[in-house]
Amino acid sequence: MGHFTCHGEVPCISDHRLEFEVGWFTETIPPFCASFVPRGRLIVHVDCDLYSSASVVFECLRPHLVPGSIVIMDEAGTGDEYRAFVEAAISAVPIAHAGCAVAAVVNEVP
Ligand SMILES: C[S@@+](CC[C@H](N)C(=O)[O-])C[C@H]1O[C@@H](n2cnc3c(N)ncnc32)[C@H](O)[C@@H]1O
Repeated sequence: MGHFTCHGEVPCISDHRLEFEVGWFTETIPPFCASFVPRGRLIVHVDCDLYSSASVVFECLRPHLVPGSIVIMDEAGTGDEYRAFVEAAISAVPIAHAGCAVAAVVNEVP
């Protein structure tokens, strides 16, 4: 058990802007993105470690990314998340890094 464990329970949060989607990315992210209506630039924080998981994230979110959106990859330095990002053909400029984590601002989504 990690320090932040909720013992299998979905955390209760009072911020109405946030909600949890519980399940595998392949089951939760496509339906979420299909009904998601962005109001502008997004901030996307990807911390799923695995290439296959990050691929689902970028494939589904790609249509919602606009110039100025920020993508943060927690494990960019280890390759998996960054590889999925590059394969999604999202053009972005790195603006900050800390350890293996990188933040980049999207400039084009062809
Ligand atoms: C490094 S942890 C992320 C920790 C999180 N950012 C936090 O601070 O609590 C990676 C998480 O991604 C989840 N994950 C990776 N691939 C997934 C997938 N395909 N579907 C659902 N969860 C996935 C793992 O279960 C794990 O909890």
